[in-house]
Amino acid sequence: MAGTSSPVPQVHVLATGGTIAGAQIQDRARGYKAAAFSVDALIAAVPQVAELARIDVEQVAAIGSQDMDDETWLKLAARTQAALDRAEIDGAVITHGTDTMEETAFFLNLVVRSEKPVVLVGAMRPATAISADGPMNLYNAVAVAAYPEARGRGVLVVANDEIHFAREVAKTNTTQVGTFRSTHRGLAGLVNGGRLHLYAPAVRRHTYRSEFSVENLTRMPRVDIVYAHAGMGRGLIDAAVEGGAEGIVIAGVGDGNIAAPAQRAAADAARQGIVVVRSSRTGGGVVERNIEVDDDRLGFVTADELNPQKARVLLMLGLTRTRDVAALQELFYTY
Ligand code: SIN
Repeated sequence: MAGTSSPVPQVHVLATGGTIAGAQIQDRARGYKAAAFSVDALIAAVPQVAELARIDVEQVAAIGSQDMDDETWLKLAARTQAALDRAEIDGAVITHGTDTMEETAFFLNLVVRSEKPVVLVGAMRPATAISADGPMNLYNAVAVAAYPEARGRGVLVVANDEIHFAREVAKTNTTQVGTFRSTHRGLAGLVNGGRLHLYAPAVRRHTYRSEFSVENLTRMPRVDIVYAHAGMGRGLIDAAVEGGAEGIVIAGVGDGNIAAPAQRAAADAARQGIVVVRSSRTGGGVVERNIEVDDDRLGFVTADELNPQKARVLLMLGLTRTRDVAALQELFYTY
């Protein structure tokens, strides 16, 4: 598994925008514009990466990651795959906003076919801020992508000297540089000034062992997330059905629960062939089948450990292959 195709590793950097490429509108201003700097400018700001790898770059998008959408995901997956398929490329780095980074990372973790490292990196402070975190994050991301032992670990996220698995990582804080957490199964490793300390590999299936492919897709199935709350009615679930959702992920209270009227709406949706996945809004823990909710009778799927936004990604990909509830449930135990 180890070994690179050239003595100096070559890393392909794909840029999508985000705060890592952000600029303050005025000196010392609190507000800023995401995706203001090009990928060339980002790399030029960290000349030390030349000590780690030869770099080539590609601007795939220039957006704040709140605007990440299916079309850009499909393009990013295709461009990442094309880069990794080149024999001379040892790994890929994707610069990305932190807001939806966990979703993009998990999407790529399921659709990119390669053992080569793919590393998503962002920043919480814009490039022009005092003590911007982007340059060191980028340096560390290139170090991980260039490191032969990082192969076969699936898509990774690097930030704040930590290496996270795409499946495990979640953004947990609006502003702090230590926003990313991997609460369930822990970190993939640490990276200090480009020096790696890798921990145990990922436990669930990913990348080169994944069954999913988006190669011939031009659109993804529509899956909506419905957020549960005290006093919930059936309106939001009915709206998702009327809006044309093929799947609904419920960000349920506690163990993925919803109030009785909402549960009746979800059961009606499931009877119509819309796949309903119960997840949890708590930020941790496993949603198991048939505990407080009779999933077998109502035709629901449970999200296992996936948070609602990652359950949505897996359900979208699952719906490209099947609508069978038992088969979809199995996917949630596998990935
Ligand atoms: C974004 O996600 O594009 C904005 C926030 C960030 O990158 O930290």
